[in-house]
Amino acid sequence: MAKMATSMVESGDDAFRKIFKFYRRRNPPPDFSKVIDFSKGVPSDKIVPAKLDAASVSDVEAAKVGLQPVRSWRAFGLQGYPGFIFISNPFLVGSQSFWVRQCLKTYPQKPNVCNLDMHMSSSDTQDIWGKSVHGLSLPPSGKKEPKTLLERLRWVTLGYHYNWDTKTYSANHHSAFPADLHSLSLHITAACGFPGFNAEAGILNYYRSDSSLGIHVDESEIDHSRPLLSFSFGQSAIFLLGGICRQDPPTAMYMHSGDMMVMSGQSRLLYHAVPRIVPAPHGHAAVEMEGRSQAASLQDGTVVELVSEEDWAVCSRYLHSSRVNVTVRQVLGPGQSFPETPSSHQRTNASQTAGYHDGSADGESGKRRRISSYD
Ligand code: SIN
Repeated sequence: MAKMATSMVESGDDAFRKIFKFYRRRNPPPDFSKVIDFSKGVPSDKIVPAKLDAASVSDVEAAKVGLQPVRSWRAFGLQGYPGFIFISNPFLVGSQSFWVRQCLKTYPQKPNVCNLDMHMSSSDTQDIWGKSVHGLSLPPSGKKEPKTLLERLRWVTLGYHYNWDTKTYSANHHSAFPADLHSLSLHITAACGFPGFNAEAGILNYYRSDSSLGIHVDESEIDHSRPLLSFSFGQSAIFLLGGICRQDPPTAMYMHSGDMMVMSGQSRLLYHAVPRIVPAPHGHAAVEMEGRSQAASLQDGTVVELVSEEDWAVCSRYLHSSRVNVTVRQVLGPGQSFPETPSSHQRTNASQTAGYHDGSADGESGKRRRISSYD
């Protein structure tokens, strides 16, 4: 232990960064045997069952947003991480397809903001889906084709749009938060013991197979008493959950398609990162194997709609080599408003220097571009 501490100091690495670099390493590939896989139901002394409030969401309400009845969810906590809840794919078979279509076709549309807006005109980024469909439908030619806009998408912000430079939200940079995603978030957080969650900001991250997301804490929200909700589709990820300081070694876990995480209470402000995207189990994500919901299984007043065959062909092609993560946040507590000077909410102390990846390969913080790739 003493030897490890010394070597960290010598190389300038903290415990989190060291483990981030370990899992990001390509050659030789790391040993994944210590990565927790909640989908396998393998008993581990670190995994504890999480108690959910099954009465808070009726089976009908859950089904409308594409979720199984809450009593069927497989929810876990982790020893040493109070307030952290992992829910192993609670979606009804076939309903992930709707949420994937929203993430790829609907949410990147204006007035939402995306990374492509930073260097392209709004007319060029007006119809990312429409401009990508043809390219994504072509069979691989063997030649290096230019990437479609969808393949160049790295992030989209919803609701209060996160400002990557100032690391703040503000009252005057806002668009309506999608009602369907608000409804999904409300039900999940209610089942986890947080009734009345108000989904006010969302960040979608689009990962290619060689992408990673640097070590950071999500603390720009003004009220930290509300949980942070995260869910993903497509290829799997290694997710690292650390402590309140970078010297706390993180726990590694797989996040597969449909899995959800709720970070609340003492786990709301923990360091976390995604060092690596890994192929989904058996080579196919649950969402690819399940395909689309059948119209007959959809109820009246449902949020989840049937995805057309054409749209699904594009989505499944994209997901074959990609992962989409959605985080949903409540920014303001009841009765709170933004401060007069947004800059007063900028990161000011040492713990706030953690941030997002800007292209370095070792998990260090950076501005604006959250996801980095090898290319
Ligand atoms: C993830 O992609 O699983 C994490 C996203 C985040 O921390 O913002």
